[in-house]
Amino acid sequence: MTSNGVRRVTVFDTTLRDGEQSPGCSMNLPEKIEVAKILEKLRVDVIEAGFPISSPGDLESVKTIAGIIKDSVVAALARCLEKDIDAAREALARAAAPRVHVFLATSPIHMEYKLKMTPEQVLEQAVSSVKYAKAFCDDVEFSAEDAFRSDPDFVCRVFGEAIRAGARTVNFPDTVGYAMPGEFGERIRYVKEHTPGMEKAVLSVHCHNDLGMAVANSLSAIVSGADQAECTINGIGERAGNASLEEIVMALKVRRDILPAETRIDTTQIYTASRMVTQVTGVKVQPNKAIVGENAFAHEAGIHQHGVLVNRATYEIMTPESIGIPKNRMVLGKHSGKHAFEDRLEDLGLTVDAETLESVFAEFKILADKKKLVSDRDIEALVMGAAAAAPETWKLDHWAVNTGSALGASGTIRLVNKNGEGKKLVTLGNGPIDAIFLAINHITGKAPELELYEIGAITDGSSSQAETMVKIAWEGRRYNGRWLSTDVVESSIKAYLAAINAMEWELGAGK
Ligand code: KIV
Ligand code: ZN
Repeated sequence: MTSNGVRRVTVFDTTLRDGEQSPGCSMNLPEKIEVAKILEKLRVDVIEAGFPISSPGDLESVKTIAGIIKDSVVAALARCLEKDIDAAREALARAAAPRVHVFLATSPIHMEYKLKMTPEQVLEQAVSSVKYAKAFCDDVEFSAEDAFRSDPDFVCRVFGEAIRAGARTVNFPDTVGYAMPGEFGERIRYVKEHTPGMEKAVLSVHCHNDLGMAVANSLSAIVSGADQAECTINGIGERAGNASLEEIVMALKVRRDILPAETRIDTTQIYTASRMVTQVTGVKVQPNKAIVGENAFAHEAGIHQHGVLVNRATYEIMTPESIGIPKNRMVLGKHSGKHAFEDRLEDLGLTVDAETLESVFAEFKILADKKKLVSDRDIEALVMGAAAAAPETWKLDHWAVNTGSALGASGTIRLVNKNGEGKKLVTLGNGPIDAIFLAINHITGKAPELELYEIGAITDGSSSQAETMVKIAWEGRRYNGRWLSTDVVESSIKAYLAAINAMEWELGAGK
């Protein structure tokens, strides 16, 4: 309960675990750190930082995030297996407030075909795992995977035993996004009423969006007494995604009249958090997405524009400022000084340390010289790109391309490695980008698979910066790179190099 007597719902963010494990959303360590920092600033109660047993990279990132975050609980996921829980323990060693999140499926289909276990074996393993985790971590959460397709009484039994074994939170996932809001709410009420010892634990929900119901189901569960909602920024996650954090939080805020609960989220950080996740994953939100879509606060029809000008409440149920969209879309130019630049960063909710500020301001000046007017989107991309970039194993020295309808394409590039040794190569290719990427592969000695190459203008006009997103795969791992430049070829080269540098860094070559 809060001081005004309203029920407080815990916001458990799993952008870095359920979100990150979905196709196209992988992040490298510097990117995960930036996302974790913005989640802390957003004041989420729990940050699920990863699944440490799944890879050495995941273990490392949970470890690092656990050492940085102070104002949110940091959770690590583990199957109900001792080796998984040991990995979670190692990863959480430095956390100010650690949580071990263990899960085991309880639905007939998962128990029979995936686990090949009887319900009694599942119950026993759930209990012994909660006890095993509890021995070193007081805050243990137990999830009954595929709970919605499980026998409700069996879930209540497993939850009751998990609570008796020490679980402080029991989580009821709709793993496959099958539920409808009415029945999901009823199920949560049933579980709350029929789980022995439920009054000693937090009841959580975790909804997937396969039928587009994840947010509606989460809200229905909250009305029925759920105390924790698991969600992700922009709703990223497995298949159709998870419940979107911003939609749950803003629904609770805007409809306080009928939704009897609130969160401790600082909603003015929502826009920055959403932009950050879009930037680092390269996964854009649809323009008409609730709360954070490009058009969520745009009024195109004349009659709407007129209404909003007279009184915003005619067509707006919440203000753009309430989610942190800056009020005035001021543009900076080459005469703008450091103070104006810093003020703009503050308006945009972007914080950088003194060293990054220097380098980003220098880049801003170069850009302002080329472009004249620098928009919020330019500044945001500069800052987020700088903060989340991996250290440079390979630096671009210079490049040139030659292309034409009659000649075919060639690319020349010189890279410098971290020991200061330069290597130059000229290659032919199927277009200038192909030529130059091939040259980079030869120089770096690795030819990762190019899974995505996307380029677009970030503002109107032909002097806009081109933003390139590159995703590469190497030995089963994926790496992202993005870059901005007023030159499309340079933007592509630097995005590709950023992905290569993220790969080298994780492989250890860059350390
Ligand atoms: O969807 C799911 O069931 C999960 C669990 C691990 C909580 O992500
Ligand atoms: Zn999930």
